[in-house]
Amino acid sequence: MSKPGTKSKGKSHSPHLDELDDVDALFYLSEEEPGPKQSSRRSGKAGRTVRQEPPKIVALVSRKGGTGKTSLAMNLAEVLSTRRRRVVVVDLDRGADAAKWQGRGGELSFAVMRVDSRGGERELKKSLDEAAAEADLLILDTPPANARVMSRAVQAADLVLIPTGPSTLDVVATVEVVNESLEILGGDEQDHPRVVLVPSRLISGTRLAKELPRQLEKLSLPIAPGICQRVEVAAAGSEGRAVRPKSQAGLEFSKLARFVLRNLRQT
Ligand SMILES: Nc1ncnc2c1ncn2[C@@H]1O[C@H](COP(=O)(O)OP(=O)(O)OP(=O)(O)O)[C@@H](O)[C@H]1O
Ligand SMILES: [Mg+2]
Repeated sequence: MSKPGTKSKGKSHSPHLDELDDVDALFYLSEEEPGPKQSSRRSGKAGRTVRQEPPKIVALVSRKGGTGKTSLAMNLAEVLSTRRRRVVVVDLDRGADAAKWQGRGGELSFAVMRVDSRGGERELKKSLDEAAAEADLLILDTPPANARVMSRAVQAADLVLIPTGPSTLDVVATVEVVNESLEILGGDEQDHPRVVLVPSRLISGTRLAKELPRQLEKLSLPIAPGICQRVEVAAAGSEGRAVRPKSQAGLEFSKLARFVLRNLRQT
């Protein structure tokens, strides 16, 4: 895994990224000494010890392949890695699409860590702990239709994002994955991570895209701002970079990132 932040590019912040200032509020920092379960680090400025909670974990899961999990993971990671925050995308997919994306050589401000998801519960926990030591936020990219990995990711997460395309088949698969996730979590709903639907690969201006929110409302889960099908998203993946912040896709990802932060803050 490359060290988080080592590729930091000191980017100039566009106005919509500036709105992400509230990212700081997500992470609890205090001047007190660290407790037994908390990591500590020295703040560069005053040399004081700051206390930090364990990183938040966002998991992307879907039963269907190609719903946009990896594209969402990588682009969200880029937006959220602004403002000194260390983000690690944990690639749990044996196809290693996130790691391959990073390997294409475009500039990214966050690290990708490959984890062999064939290992047992303990190995996964160890890998997540390793990633956690390097990060303020972990984003888990999972393979499609792999109940075991999905189950682990959902259980580890503070926030579960279920990307869903606009077709009937997509919605049917989403209903299944929602039911599976809630079954995995079982018990008291109050202790569940938040489960959120993310409309993905919407074709702007089409009836299917317009009707999707109504279809999804039936699931009684929060619905995130959607991401449209755009050449920029596909091009970013091919070039190993994130979408350009000022593009339409960039604006959509910023909006989604703000929604993610708001929801994480409530976990
Ligand atoms: N919003 C989008 N606009 C255009 N192309 C997209 C968009 N989202 C995803 N794609 C393209 O769709 C394909 C599948 O996307 P992606 O790999 O992100 O999905 P996935 O859910 O991770 O797939 P898998 O289940 O196989 O891991 C890729 O070629 C990607 O470039
Ligand atoms: Mg993928």
